[in-house]
Amino acid sequence: MSIFENLLLQLENGILVITINRADKLNALNIDTIKEIKAAIQQVYDDPAVRGAIFTGAGDKAFVAGADISEIAELSEVNARSFAERGQEVFSMIERCTKPVLAAVNGFALGGGCELAMACHMRVASEGARFGQPEVNLGLIPGYGGTQRLTQLIGKGKAMELMMTADMIGAGEAKALGLVNHVVPAVELMRKSMEIMNKILSKAPLAIGLVIDCVNAVYDKDEDGYQTEANSFARCCSSQDFVEGTNAFLEKRKPAFKGA
Ligand code: COA
Repeated sequence: MSIFENLLLQLENGILVITINRADKLNALNIDTIKEIKAAIQQVYDDPAVRGAIFTGAGDKAFVAGADISEIAELSEVNARSFAERGQEVFSMIERCTKPVLAAVNGFALGGGCELAMACHMRVASEGARFGQPEVNLGLIPGYGGTQRLTQLIGKGKAMELMMTADMIGAGEAKALGLVNHVVPAVELMRKSMEIMNKILSKAPLAIGLVIDCVNAVYDKDEDGYQTEANSFARCCSSQDFVEGTNAFLEKRKPAFKGA
């Protein structure tokens, strides 16, 4: 029996598709769903059969319409801090995963939904997707890393505007701002996401993981990103896949990477 009540997990050729499955609540993230996302991403870390993951939402209306407001409404100050920290921890796990994680954004990505998409390494959106951080409408601010990641992705001025006005933006504007990588018709969303994922999975897995580490190091105040890059570059040069990749180039053939 599946341990997941709010997620659907499907493994397709090494790609774990994680679908937030509360369509009647526009896939709002209640606490149980956050716990299940943690378990699902842990599976991505641990299961060698999983080479990458794609988050999406059930139904055709929403990716995730935010944290579950009916639960938020009950939070005391003490509980609210641990509520935010728990979500931040789970979304940091996604961000730091050394296997690629994409968001296939199929509708509303608001509040915690926008934050979930931003924790992924890349975002593909359907043409009808809508993005926003509307927490100030509720007397709140983003609590799952949104103030940090939105600023990192689109810059201070636009991030301030989106979070202070609570405006929603469409997929086209999100792409122009750098919030999403690609916008496609809804029927193409999973195909395009799979295409990008499969391209990434055809490269050397160790190198992919180290790219993720090095890019994340930019935003880690305790890390010297240049040093992380030099160390990671050296680590690549001691790998079997480096020998395979360079030999394959010189022998004019496709490399067969093993992830070692
Ligand atoms: N938390 C809990 N329930 C939510 C939710 C959320 N974040 N977002 C939507 N829902 C629920 C609605 O309460 C409704 O449930 P009901 O049918 O039992 O009444 C159902 O999902 C459908 O939503 P509804 O508002 O009727 O759809 P809509 O098409 O009229 O509006 C939105 C869509 C996304 C604009 C609207 O649902 C909305 O503003 N949601 C909240 C967004 C938000 O503030 N997110 C940040 C939370 S911190």
